[in-house]
Amino acid sequence: MFFTFKGLPFFPETASSIAAHVDALYAFLVLTSAFFSLLIAFLVVFFAVKYRRRSAGELPPDTNIAGHGAGLILEIVWTVIPLGISMIMFVWGASIFFTESRPPADSMEIYVTGKQWMWKIQHMEGPREINELHIPVNRDIRLTMTSEDVIHDFFVPAFRTKADVLPGKYTTEWFRPTRIGQYHIFCAEYCGTKHSGMTGTVYVMNQDDYNAWLAAGSGEGSMAEQGQSLFNQLGCGNCHPSVINNNNGRCPNLHGLFGTSVEIKDLGPIRADEAYIRESILYPDSKIVAGYDNIMPTFKGLISEEGMLKLVEYIKSLGPGSGTPTGATPAAVQTSASQPQTPAQRRTNPQATTPPTGR
Ligand code: CUA
Repeated sequence: MFFTFKGLPFFPETASSIAAHVDALYAFLVLTSAFFSLLIAFLVVFFAVKYRRRSAGELPPDTNIAGHGAGLILEIVWTVIPLGISMIMFVWGASIFFTESRPPADSMEIYVTGKQWMWKIQHMEGPREINELHIPVNRDIRLTMTSEDVIHDFFVPAFRTKADVLPGKYTTEWFRPTRIGQYHIFCAEYCGTKHSGMTGTVYVMNQDDYNAWLAAGSGEGSMAEQGQSLFNQLGCGNCHPSVINNNNGRCPNLHGLFGTSVEIKDLGPIRADEAYIRESILYPDSKIVAGYDNIMPTFKGLISEEGMLKLVEYIKSLGPGSGTPTGATPAAVQTSASQPQTPAQRRTNPQATTPPTGR
């Protein structure tokens, strides 16, 4: 830990793989700024004393004649050195930014919904929690986040990472917790009266404790299973087939849809990702699949953001591909063709990184 003054930490605790890198960069920025601030302050005073006017009639020497060459060298030196230092800051900062904005392909996925003024968390295996997030230590965790109302921002200082949570859009954030413990969650975007109370706690646990916690809370079935019952409840299955080779010609088959390329009328091929599924449910007339008619009614106002995430998870579970907004790689799409694992299988194999929906 950098900079502790009489036991008072200048930095929050560090509990993620990226935290030490962020601290090192920040320390570099602070020390560089401090060095130059002190240097300049010292020189201001020093030169004011050294070159003070000593008599009423004194005139400064003509600098245009004397020392012209030395002035040029001085100009080059004080341009090139700051340029070099700021380039170090730029490249270093950019490399941390890229690391933080690209979740590893095999990350464990968790859904977050922000709402005035609480955090709702949904695990793939089924458990839900409010203002609490239980995760295993030393695993890459990817949060897929959306908001039910205004802009929020999911911030865990101990992990040195934050990302905006926007209505009508999915954003992601990832981290790899490295220390077992409890850490604060804050909302880092002013979102109304109780913004300052929109807090929570991350519980980083060892894998066994996490498995036990998960098993205790998965009574309602996995997200995909909950999505399937919502799918049936809303009557989606009356028109959309969800098994292979069962096409009725009226509504596109959802089997094997996710992550693949879909031909849209008047638009061409697009990728069937989370955002496309969401848009098709809320605004079915905005993208019509080629060869089908515009007959689907909107479900806007009938499905909560959490329900939407479950529906997306169900459609994902029908295979085959990954449509992750960021970090999707060809490798991730290929491995997703493997057999889905049930939550039970996954619990007995904690090293397995394939989420239960086969992504
Ligand atoms: Cu939510 Cu501030």
